[in-house]
Amino acid sequence: MSFPSFQPPLRTLLGPGPSEVHPRVLQACARPTLGHLDPAFLELMDQIKIQLQELFGTKNALTFPVSAPGSAGMEACFVNLVEAGDKVIIGANGVFSLRMRENVLRCGGIPIMVETAWGKSVEPGMIEDACRQNPDAKILAFVHAETSTGALSDAAALAQIARQNSLYTIMDAVTSLGGTPLTIDKWGIDAVYSGSQKCLSCIAGLSPVSFSERALEKIKQRNSPVQSWFLDMNLIMDYWKPGSKRSYHHTAPINSLYALHESLVMHAEEGAENVFARHQRVHLYLIHQLATQLPIQLKIFVEEKDRMPQLNAIAIPDHLKDTEANFRANLLTKYGIEIGGGLGPLAGAIWRVGLMGHGAREKNVDYLVHALRDLLS
Ligand SMILES: Cc1ncc(COP(=O)(O)O)c(C=O)c1O
Repeated sequence: MSFPSFQPPLRTLLGPGPSEVHPRVLQACARPTLGHLDPAFLELMDQIKIQLQELFGTKNALTFPVSAPGSAGMEACFVNLVEAGDKVIIGANGVFSLRMRENVLRCGGIPIMVETAWGKSVEPGMIEDACRQNPDAKILAFVHAETSTGALSDAAALAQIARQNSLYTIMDAVTSLGGTPLTIDKWGIDAVYSGSQKCLSCIAGLSPVSFSERALEKIKQRNSPVQSWFLDMNLIMDYWKPGSKRSYHHTAPINSLYALHESLVMHAEEGAENVFARHQRVHLYLIHQLATQLPIQLKIFVEEKDRMPQLNAIAIPDHLKDTEANFRANLLTKYGIEIGGGLGPLAGAIWRVGLMGHGAREKNVDYLVHALRDLLS
């Protein structure tokens, strides 16, 4: 059987990710492939490490993109740091903290779920209580920007509680990295993972991670080997160490790394502070337009103090709740706009509008509001 080449339809990606990839990033991807141990490629790897260290706000030597999506970065943090019997306190406020629980269980650890209502930030006071009640806990894990709800948690406060209670901290920064200020050394985060396809506006399939010296010591002193060969940091370390003496671990996704490099070049060109300010400005513009430009007022599901700018959860009006999937399908077919539905208990209750990376622009808000106005009237 033969098929013609695939020609994707043009879309405006305003969902929870992937976000729109900048043409410069796509062009970088199309450059000629190098061997994964070619000196020119090794130089690129060194640069990516430095770019990611800057973005994460860290000097951690083990900072690099895992060759797989955010879920693999998540798994890399848990399989390396959690050993059988380890208690892990998880600040739970959405889908991705439930995945953390799943990871802990598969590592033979004991998850302690500290549950906050979906749509709210993880509550530091509740984490303090959990630390007091579980003095033998080893790790605190939480999602900085919970993509399933649009709530941003106070990572600095949570990490500080972890430090005060001698816990290691694992933070999910899949949706926060690049769109929201983040500085892991100052906050004292031990392991962090992110994704390339959200605020970095890169192609999907890479997961920037960073591990502190303290975390590395814990990994080196494990009683049992890390059960994942591919994600074992003891082995990957030698592949990502700076300089030319690298040992083969796996074939890096060469062209995807060109893309990541370019997206990080663009982030630095615009300036991190300017990128954060743009995300905030466009988020406020969306809220204003939703409140003033539609036949019915659409409300944001998350309270103002708990909101992140890059993922906006909109409460679906009652009369559309049963048909909201059709509504989204119309948005896609008529306007080529993708937005996300709710997950888990929020299915049918919210729409998720991502204004991430290159997609965080006023023109996208105008186009979405225009389409919403049409479909709502
Ligand atoms: C907060 C969060 N964590 C983890 C993931 C998993 O990342 P990926 O889909 O790249 O595997 C996502 C993806 O949407 C996410 O939003």
